Amino acid sequence: MLPDGVSFAVKGHMGFKTIIEPFRVKSVEPIRLTTTVERKEYLRAADYNPFRLDSRKVIIDLLTDSGTGAMSTNQWAGVMLGDEAYAGSPSWNRMEEVVGSVTGMKFILPTHQGRAAERILYTQLGGTGKIFISNTHFDTTRANIEYTGARAIDAVIQESFDDDSAYPFKGNMDVNKLESLVSSHGPEMIGAVILTVTNNSGGGQPVSMQNAREVSAICRTHEIPLVLDCCRVAENAYFIKLREKGYESSTCREIALEMFGLADAAIMSAKKDAMVNMGGFLALRDQSLADACTQVLIITEGFTTYGGLSGRDMEAIATGLEEGFDEHYLHYRIASTRFLADRLHTLGVPVMRPAGGHAVYVDGGAFYAHIPPARFPAQALVCDLYITGGVRTVEIGSVMFGKYDGEGRPVPAKRELVRLALPRRTYTQSHLEYVAEVFAEVKHQKQSATGLRIVEEPRFLRHFTARFERL
Ligand code: F0G
Repeated sequence: MLPDGVSFAVKGHMGFKTIIEPFRVKSVEPIRLTTTVERKEYLRAADYNPFRLDSRKVIIDLLTDSGTGAMSTNQWAGVMLGDEAYAGSPSWNRMEEVVGSVTGMKFILPTHQGRAAERILYTQLGGTGKIFISNTHFDTTRANIEYTGARAIDAVIQESFDDDSAYPFKGNMDVNKLESLVSSHGPEMIGAVILTVTNNSGGGQPVSMQNAREVSAICRTHEIPLVLDCCRVAENAYFIKLREKGYESSTCREIALEMFGLADAAIMSAKKDAMVNMGGFLALRDQSLADACTQVLIITEGFTTYGGLSGRDMEAIATGLEEGFDEHYLHYRIASTRFLADRLHTLGVPVMRPAGGHAVYVDGGAFYAHIPPARFPAQALVCDLYITGGVRTVEIGSVMFGKYDGEGRPVPAKRELVRLALPRRTYTQSHLEYVAEVFAEVKHQKQSATGLRIVEEPRFLRHFTARFERL
C-alpha cells in the first residue's frame, strides 16, 4: 500500500481541484438494476464464474477494459466512411499510416485482436526448447507461447509484489534476472523478450524508459528480439511524463515513439488504448520476419490490407489510436483509476497503490484472510461483489494462474488479486462511488464469506470457462 503522505497527486484543468470527464454524453445505454435475490440465482446458474454471466445481469461491468470502452463521435463517423474493399482499402491506408507513425515501425499487419498477433509472431519465434522472458506474461501471451512448446518465464522487479512500496515503476523488468536467464539458457534459446506496458498481470503498473533502455541494451548485445506488448502504451507514456525525470515536457506520443524505438516488434490489442471494440496489429522492423508473419496472416486472419478486420474497424482504430494519446483524456483516465483506489484504501480495503493505469487491484487473499488459496479467496470476493451490488470483476490469482504439480496437487499463484478494470470513457464518478459503497457492504459481511471448489476445468485458460461450487 502507498504509505499515507506519499503522493502522485494530479490536478484538474487550469488548477481546479475537480478533474472532469473531458467528454459529454451523446448516446446512452440503459443499465438494468437487479436485486440481490436475482443475482444470487444468476451467479449460481453461472457456476460462480462471472465470465458465464449474461452482461444484462451486470450493473457495473469491470470485468475488463478490453473492447468495452465508448467510441467517440469521430470514430462513429469513421465507421460510416469505412471502405470494405477486400484489397487496397483506403481505410487500411489510414490505419497503416497512423500505426506506422505511432510505432515508427515499417511493417504493419492488421489482426482481429491482440492474441492473433501473438499467435502469428510466437509461432515464428517459439517452439520446443525456446524460452520467452517478460516482466509478466499476460495469460493469452503465456498460452500462445506455451502452445508452441516454448516456456514463458516472468521476471518483474521485487517491488511489484510489495503493496507497501511507493516505487513509481513497479512494472519494470528485473534486469539482473534477465541477464542471468540469458546466460544460463544461452541467447540462441531465447525466443524473445517481451516488455508489457503497462504490466497488466502485475497490477497495470508502468515500465520506465530507463528500464526499457536497459532491457533493450541487453537484447541488442545478445541479438534477442525485443517485443513491446503495447496495448496500454499511452497510459504507460503518461505515467512516464508524470514520474520520470526528463519527460515532463514531452508529449505522450513522443515518449511512446522513443520506447518503440528500443524494440524490434510490437503487438497491440487495439481494444485498449486504441479505444475500439475490436482490433489489433503486429508491427515489425525486420523484412524477413515480416514476410514469414505475413504468410501466416493471410492463411489464418485475412489478406494483408484487412487482416481480421472490417474497413470500418480500421477507420475506428486509426482515429481511436490518436484519441488514446490525447493528454486531457489520459489525465482524466489516470485520475479516475486513482480515485477508485483511494476510495477503497480509505475504506480499509487492501488495494495496490499507487494505482495502475487501467485497473484497481485488490488483494483478495488479504481481504478474505480466513479463506486459504486452495479455496480461491479472490474468486470468492469476485462472487460477493457481484451478489452484493451487481459489480462484475475478475480474479487474477490461483484460478487464473494456479497449476498442478507432477502428482496433481494444486500449486497456488503468487498472489490472490481481484481486478477492477475500468472501461474507457464509459462510467462516471458516481458509478465508481457506487462500487466503493458495494465494497463497504462486502467488507461488513466478510467473516461469513466462504471459498469455492472447481468442479470442471479445461486445460488452457481455465478461468474463462471453469465451473465452481460454493463451499
Ligand atoms: N496483452 C495484454 C497485456 C493484454 O492485456 C491482452 C488482453 C492481450 C495481450 C490480448 O489481447 O484480448 O485483444 O486478444 N487483455 C484483456 C484483459 C483481455 O482483460 O486484460 P486481445
